[in-house]
Amino acid sequence: MCGIIGYTGKKEATDILIDALELLEYRGYDSAGIALSDEAGGEPRLLKRAGRVKDLRELCAESDVSGKCGIGHTRWATHGGVCDENAHPHRFGRVTIIHNGIIENYRELIEKYGLEHKLCSQTDSEIVAAVLNRFYEKDPYAAIRKTVLKLKGTFALAIMFDDIPGKIFAVRNVSPIVAASTEDGAILSSDVAAIAPFTSQYFVVPEFHVVCLSEDGIEMFDLSGDKARIDWLTVDWDVSRSDKGGYPFYMEKEIMEQPQVIQDTVMPRIKDGRPDFSAEGIPDSILSECKRICVIACGTAMHAGLVGKSLIQAMIGIHVDVVMASEFMYNDPVVDKETLVIAISQSGETIDTLEALKFARKCGSPSISIVNVKGASIARASEYVIYTCAGPEIAVASTKAYTTQLAVLYLLTARMAVARGLWDDGKLSAYMEELVRVPKVMEEVLARKDEIHHIADTMLNARDVFMIGRGLDYSILLEGSLKLKEVSYIHSEAYASGELKHGTIALITEETPVIAVVTQDKLKSKELSNIKEVQSRGAKVILLIKGEERLEQEKIWNRIFRLPVMADEFMVMPASIVLQLIAYYVSADKGLDVDKPRNLAKVVTVE
Ligand code: F6R
Repeated sequence: MCGIIGYTGKKEATDILIDALELLEYRGYDSAGIALSDEAGGEPRLLKRAGRVKDLRELCAESDVSGKCGIGHTRWATHGGVCDENAHPHRFGRVTIIHNGIIENYRELIEKYGLEHKLCSQTDSEIVAAVLNRFYEKDPYAAIRKTVLKLKGTFALAIMFDDIPGKIFAVRNVSPIVAASTEDGAILSSDVAAIAPFTSQYFVVPEFHVVCLSEDGIEMFDLSGDKARIDWLTVDWDVSRSDKGGYPFYMEKEIMEQPQVIQDTVMPRIKDGRPDFSAEGIPDSILSECKRICVIACGTAMHAGLVGKSLIQAMIGIHVDVVMASEFMYNDPVVDKETLVIAISQSGETIDTLEALKFARKCGSPSISIVNVKGASIARASEYVIYTCAGPEIAVASTKAYTTQLAVLYLLTARMAVARGLWDDGKLSAYMEELVRVPKVMEEVLARKDEIHHIADTMLNARDVFMIGRGLDYSILLEGSLKLKEVSYIHSEAYASGELKHGTIALITEETPVIAVVTQDKLKSKELSNIKEVQSRGAKVILLIKGEERLEQEKIWNRIFRLPVMADEFMVMPASIVLQLIAYYVSADKGLDVDKPRNLAKVVTVE
């Protein structure tokens, strides 16, 4: 959480920093700030305020600041409320910093260094500037080394010293920093998206390494002061994909991109009609020898894992647990060398998922991660990584990352079947043909977005919404319900339809819209009976059903959306698009900030 940017070079830095902060705003939007200095050095100019980056932009315009070296921050508040004083950058003595992460021992440090009445904010971050200032005696590396050794917790820090003009230092533990040289200087950020407009070559700063950015480029040292080698990576997405492309919100754009990104994720991994992970170096043995699978992930990524569980259990016949990464450590996890751990994460930085993965690896579990951001911490911490090719996902609510995660899980299931010799050629080719058809089917659904918009209209004034289904349909709805609540602020619950009558049906009234999904042939009659139970209590039911078959009493449905037909296990793809668009239209029509729902941040790097 929190977005970080730093630039030093020949150009004026203000706009570079503010433009980048606007791109990084999805990491947190409680406050924003920059610090700028010029060639002469000295105390940098600090501009910061609670509110959005656009407010900071106005402040900068009013203040007429300039400078060619600067750092900027957009905050998701953890310690200390949302106010100007708690906004970053923080300054102490000759040191100015921005911080992403949590300094767990900040109280101890305040006491140890007698800083109780010397700090201006309530944050855990300002203390880092104070400790750096205490240790700083002309050698920035020594000060950083000594400070870092005192810190407990996670941090990505960008640092400016008053008497070292034109240079930005950075160091990190867990929280990410990427850096790059530009034509006229150097840049660093918490996200590749912010540096991609400047260069296609970048690197991930390794943990506990210090980088120094100057007009002449970048140097990197380990904590013992030895020069370290930089491992360069290439940005693999088109920068134009980081803008809204004419859509009012990123969320809509990202929903519309799904046919393309599914294609980009799936097609390079099919060779001669068979799923293929040779480019990732994944040996079949890891898929054929495991006795169990444990998926660890959070939120939407965990919902993708639940679909994966249904697929793998049904098609491969091995047991799959899907564990909320935030709960993993607290339930005495039983994972061992026979348990394949699959970590799923769009950002690749979710700390709960990262910690759970590290724990599982210590227990000897083989691991594969499914990650969207190249070089991210989770990708680096796992034995093998499969990148989803969703491109930058900017809207806080995940859409295209989710369906590309599903696409990888479909491929993995098929490869597992091949590795275990479970399917004959006919079964494999029918499955693969269906997978290849997904983008086209998604396009058919997207072409009917006006119809989906009308469905969304019926929910605009709802206070509560229920979503009901069984089996795979229930998994789809867990994600559909999360989408609706996070972007529209309507309370929504996904419920296994057979479970409803064990208590929750008491909440169903004429005022409660119910979305029912019926896509699984073997569950259809049971699901339709469960739907009748809520209709009898007055609920207005919106039905998403596979195919064109006529239903009894069509008039009793509030709305029916007929989904294009795919094999049952693939119906999650078209159904998810409808649910994503419903959430999107409800939010947009309520006039909400669809891309930046309140209280949320795109990358969750605090436990
Ligand atoms: C919801 C959403 C979140 C994320 C979750 C995990 O739309 O995006 O629930 O899925 O915070 O994030 P990643 O996938 O980055 O680990």
